[in-house]
Amino acid sequence: MREIAAADGQALVLVARVQLAHQGLHDTWGPLSGAERERADRYVHEADRRSYESAHLLVREAVRRWCGAVAQPSLVLTYDCPTCGSAEHGRPRFRSLDEVQISLSHARGHVAAAVSARPIGVDVEDTDRSLSRADLTGFMTPRELAADGGSMGLLETWTRKEALVKAGAATLDEIGGVDVTADLCALAGGSWLVRSHRDEGWVLSVATGGERGPEPHSEVADGPPRDASE
Ligand SMILES: CC(C)(COP(=O)(O)OP(=O)(O)OC[C@H]1O[C@@H](n2cnc3c(N)ncnc32)[C@H](O)[C@@H]1OP(=O)(O)O)[C@@H](O)C(=O)NCCC(=O)NCCS
Ligand SMILES: [Zn+2]
Repeated sequence: MREIAAADGQALVLVARVQLAHQGLHDTWGPLSGAERERADRYVHEADRRSYESAHLLVREAVRRWCGAVAQPSLVLTYDCPTCGSAEHGRPRFRSLDEVQISLSHARGHVAAAVSARPIGVDVEDTDRSLSRADLTGFMTPRELAADGGSMGLLETWTRKEALVKAGAATLDEIGGVDVTADLCALAGGSWLVRSHRDEGWVLSVATGGERGPEPHSEVADGPPRDASE
């Protein structure tokens, strides 16, 4: 399991191989709450079920590391869909921890979880997943598609977009037209920091922020410029 201090210590991100997270965290954080168990049981493929469970265990471990001791029964996951308002899907949070923002991601081989006091989104992909430019037409800007980063570069760009969507910076429909090449993005009236990390077998991006920048500088001067020594 790898721990990443993201965004200058303002967030904690954990990434782990599915098998290791499952074995290492189940005794401490399992079993998951009823609704999560029902959701896990709906997966057709065992690998997807284990990945889902591992991400949901990992996000509990991330919260413990971020907040200190938390009682396992208080960690009941709820949702709030930014599109339709449903409490069955969308942005996750723990019911009893209003001040803690969380995000999670499950790929077949790796899972990631992130915690922050600010809006946050994390997305992980297995590097054996191959994406072609043709797969991504409509989801990337022409500049992103023209970049010479190969399949790995496309995958990383994809995780940056999904991290921003999960953080609430843009919708999935909007993000295709947003260039995410720079680490700082101005979106949804706020400013967002996006960072990417890679290691053996995975690539991950985390987006944090959402703060409004300073008010635009007024062109109309209130009076003569003040002397800095005043
Ligand atoms: C968010 C999204 C980009 C991630 O999908 P993905 O890469 O396939 O899957 P990942 O494993 O990386 O992430 C899934 C997790 O993202 C989180 N998530 C889902 N939708 C989210 C949202 N709108 N905001 C923040 N997080 C979200 C959930 O925790 C989910 O895991 P869980 O269901 O096990 O709790 C994708 O689910 C999506 O596009 N959702 C929005 C689609 C939409 O607008 N639907 C309208 C519904 S009314
Ligand atoms: Zn919805």
